[in-house]
Amino acid sequence: MFILVTGANGQLGKSIKSLVKQQKTSDSFVFVTRNQLDLSSLSNIQNYFEVHKFDLIINCAAYTAVDKAEHYQQEAGMVNHIAVKQIAEIAKSNNIKLIHVSTDFVFDGLKHEPYCESDTSSPLNIYGKTKLEGENAILSIMKFNAIIIRTSWVYSEYGNNFVATILKLAQKNSNLNIVSDQIGTPTYAGDLGKAILSIIKNAKFNEFERVSEIYHYSNEGRCSWYDFAKEVVNISGVKCTVTPINTEDYPTAAKRPKHTIMSKEKISKEFDLKIIFWKDSLKYCMKNLSTLSLLNKK
Ligand SMILES: NC(=O)c1ccc[n+]([C@@H]2O[C@H](COP(=O)([O-])OP(=O)(O)OC[C@H]3O[C@@H](n4cnc5c(N)ncnc54)[C@H](OP(=O)(O)O)[C@@H]3O)[C@@H](O)[C@H]2O)c1
Repeated sequence: MFILVTGANGQLGKSIKSLVKQQKTSDSFVFVTRNQLDLSSLSNIQNYFEVHKFDLIINCAAYTAVDKAEHYQQEAGMVNHIAVKQIAEIAKSNNIKLIHVSTDFVFDGLKHEPYCESDTSSPLNIYGKTKLEGENAILSIMKFNAIIIRTSWVYSEYGNNFVATILKLAQKNSNLNIVSDQIGTPTYAGDLGKAILSIIKNAKFNEFERVSEIYHYSNEGRCSWYDFAKEVVNISGVKCTVTPINTEDYPTAAKRPKHTIMSKEKISKEFDLKIIFWKDSLKYCMKNLSTLSLLNKK
């Protein structure tokens, strides 16, 4: 298979690239950054796919700045919705399979049980709204051959993410105030990347005219941002206390859902995936982090 991975400079894109390097595969992967394929321009997208041909697109690119999206609605909508719509149209007319990544922020967070794929989505912020529009565009254009994987609270060894931020802040401060009334599940991008690479090898994914579906994927378990931060600080061994605060005490431009734990039953059963407990993956990621050397510089 010829496989295109967009968002190659992002957390998930980099994680998939690193996994592909480690595995023996007969598939050919092309990783593109914004420079090679800018999703904010429809003509760029059109021109790119006129020249380059693929069997599968893994779309990891997205406008992910949740608070900024409140002010830059058009930009967020372009990358998360309009570009996705165009990619789906190109995929459909060229018989290309599509794996698209979406978010738990399509939900309003009012359900206290794990969200299933069939639950009603009702985003609270622009980012969630544009991601949902992207999902809907795919499902209406591609009756077959697309899967949408909703994930949550993504962190990795790469870029700015919650783990890296907490590590940096914990070294500079004796206390951190972290929100404890938003509950969800962290996702280690390396685990999600592995899941995606395993899905594309699965016979079910490769069935002829497989009906397009949504799946949920995160690590296992649940926690608040406060629990997550506390665990990061504990594993790092840095001396810093973490104090729980309420969402109201940490105002942000974008409203966030309170509970977005997602059921992983559908994806794990369908594709025979073992899902790792969030604290185990966090330990694994932090072992890999070059921030360990950063910690030593303290
Ligand atoms: N991060 C999370 O907590 C989280 C939670 C739920 C769902 N998700 C979803 O998971 C997927 C992967 O997220 P991630 O954490 O890997 O995000 P990320 O680290 O922010 O990476 C996103 C990538 O998209 C690229 N991008 C943005 N605008 C672009 C454009 N106009 N043209 C081409 N590329 C563009 C960015 O390029 P630059 O590097 O040049 O900026 C970046 O490399 C996304 O679909 C996201 O919505 C993420």
